[in-house]
Amino acid sequence: MKAVLCKAFGPAETLVLEETASPEAKKNEILLDVHSAGVNFPDTLIIEGKYQFKPPFPFSPGGEAAGVVAAVGEKVGHVKVGDRVMALTGWGSFAEQVAVPGYNVLPMPTDMDFDTAAAFSMTYGTSMHALKQRADLKAGETLLVLGASGGVGLAAVEIGKALGARVIAAASSAEKLAVAKAAGADELIDYSTDSLKDEVKRLTGGQGADVIYDPVGGDLFDQAIRSIAWNGRLLVVGFASGRIPELPVNLALLKGAAVVGVFWGSFAQRQPQDNLANFQQLFAWYSEGKLKPLVSQTFALERSGEALNALSQRKAVGKVVVKVRP
Ligand SMILES: NC(=O)c1ccc[n+]([C@@H]2O[C@H](COP(=O)([O-])OP(=O)(O)OC[C@H]3O[C@@H](n4cnc5c(N)ncnc54)[C@H](OP(=O)(O)O)[C@@H]3O)[C@@H](O)[C@H]2O)c1
Repeated sequence: MKAVLCKAFGPAETLVLEETASPEAKKNEILLDVHSAGVNFPDTLIIEGKYQFKPPFPFSPGGEAAGVVAAVGEKVGHVKVGDRVMALTGWGSFAEQVAVPGYNVLPMPTDMDFDTAAAFSMTYGTSMHALKQRADLKAGETLLVLGASGGVGLAAVEIGKALGARVIAAASSAEKLAVAKAAGADELIDYSTDSLKDEVKRLTGGQGADVIYDPVGGDLFDQAIRSIAWNGRLLVVGFASGRIPELPVNLALLKGAAVVGVFWGSFAQRQPQDNLANFQQLFAWYSEGKLKPLVSQTFALERSGEALNALSQRKAVGKVVVKVRP
């Protein structure tokens, strides 16, 4: 099979496309014929050796995929050969085939195409878990989303609206904010030109935001915690800016606020039934037209490096997808 391989940690330019042996499905795995692979920020970190886990060399990056089941291990019962499925792979999806544990595979909704399915699980799964289980976001509350045109950010905007919140989208350019607006954001803040803290205060009549969704970290976190409402919840989702911020905890005390960690991958493993219920709700919203996943760019397998660079160079909006089978 053809696979994009990482043979040593380094930038996307060091990835190579090669012919390599297909993996085999173990007893608890399925073998997936990959059609499309979703690109996520962790993929850009894994190839550089900067992520929580480091796969053995050589490996293919690509943490999620959609395709057709090619083989099923004897302990997997919920899907069969020929089914169209979406899968969380951790790595390995920038290849024509990947073996995936059965518990990380879901049948695709019948009204979804491969590109959308490949772009769905990580972002919507993360943002649903963050806003539902971690923030307990209520209808009528104000939700501030940082990095609001990115993968997880844009999903948070849509889910926030579906849950009945007033959504303030914050991003680094007018073009990115237009994407968040089209996804339903009520208010917009361009933090490349305006003070995040001042604008949140202005838009909330001085109250601050009830829930803050932060996949960016760094300086934006420092400003965001100062614009949180009484009883607010700040969701720590990621650090796309590259800096893990530190918190003077008196700020949490003064607002009666909570800083809440979000680790969707761990949640999905530890609470599979809750995760499944989240996805049932997400698929229902998708069918009702409340969620409209944005795949803004697709790249052929041999251009996977460019797909990764779109994210690491802060150029992507919504989701970028690698089309493994055109
Ligand atoms: N906790 C979890 O369970 C979980 C799950 C999935 C992802 N994540 C994390 O969430 C974060 C976002 O992931 P994603 O896949 O949504 O990424 P993405 O699509 O690239 O979005 C990241 C956003 O961060 C902003 N940003 C600010 N500084 C940046 C920089 N130096 N480089 C790149 N982007 C920058 C960008 O928006 P502006 O230009 O508008 O600022 C961009 O839209 C990552 O840190 C990822 O590891 C966490």
